[in-house]
Amino acid sequence: MAAPHPIGVKDVARHARVSVGTVSNVLNRPEKVAAATVARVHEAIVNLGFVRNDAARQLRAGRSKTVGLIVLDVRNPFFTELARGAEDRATVAGLSILLGNSDDNPAREAAYLDLFEEQRVHGVLISPFGDVTERLTRLRERGTPAVLVDRSGDDTGFSSASVDDIAGGYLAVRHLIDRGRRRIAYLAGQFNIRQVTDRLEGARRAVAESPGVTLEVISSASLTVVDGRRSAEEIASRPASARPDGIFAVNDLMAVGVLQALVMSGRIRVPEDIALVGYDDIDFAGAAVVPLTSIRQPSHAIGATAIELLLEATADTDHAPRNVVFQPELVVRASSG
Ligand code: RIB
Repeated sequence: MAAPHPIGVKDVARHARVSVGTVSNVLNRPEKVAAATVARVHEAIVNLGFVRNDAARQLRAGRSKTVGLIVLDVRNPFFTELARGAEDRATVAGLSILLGNSDDNPAREAAYLDLFEEQRVHGVLISPFGDVTERLTRLRERGTPAVLVDRSGDDTGFSSASVDDIAGGYLAVRHLIDRGRRRIAYLAGQFNIRQVTDRLEGARRAVAESPGVTLEVISSASLTVVDGRRSAEEIASRPASARPDGIFAVNDLMAVGVLQALVMSGRIRVPEDIALVGYDDIDFAGAAVVPLTSIRQPSHAIGATAIELLLEATADTDHAPRNVVFQPELVVRASSG
């Protein structure tokens, strides 16, 4: 006995006593169809068990020439430089960038992934807040490839372009220890963010190989100048003996906030009393009131490489994912002596 044929649009049209075009309008532009007709077509869809063939629709519709880029914080110059790198490489390939800011918020991140899928973007680049592997897998199964940026793909099955944040955290704290600091504080953000936890792991490795050095971890709600200033004000309020003599801030925005609070306190000198290291080496790190020592990330290259990886994924859906990991660089300035 032949297997029943899959219910198609023609079956729905016949059952609802309308044309195939009307069924298509009900599915794609229901606002153009009379409500009674919409209801009759939906009744036929339910009664027949019709399932829309998304893949065929997507193939017919073709793929757009835009790439959806979702970053954690669009105010952070690290991400604007990363977006610039992606845009410069995308332009060469005839593509353009749609930028979405998740604001470290998983609900906003999910909404942008849905929006970009509906827009049928050429592909998605994402610096994820948490673990989005399952969502990206569904996205790819429905025809939209994705690449992780600023976060290693490891064994997710997705290509990625990132920096070795464990090495970066190690470089920062090793430098403070080499400058004679023994009471280190790590100013972190949320620990859902892989970059935050990897930098802590690197910091811990540097401390572990240095007898007599302690590491205090101070978490904060986000990774902004305000959070850096708030954490440093708490440190400044302590007795001198209870303060760290070296601070590693998880990024330069936080480090700038630390500088503002300590210098404005008028009581604590950087680096004499507290040495300070940031991360990202954003443009105004070097122009800060006390030029900031930082761990440089090749932000522009990370963005451009992510587009390269996306082009590989769209050219060959069976391609083996590649994790491109850049090495961080210590840039020494006045804030660490
Ligand atoms: O968004 C958190 C941090 O991760 C940024 O400052 C940048 O360092 C990124 O890698």
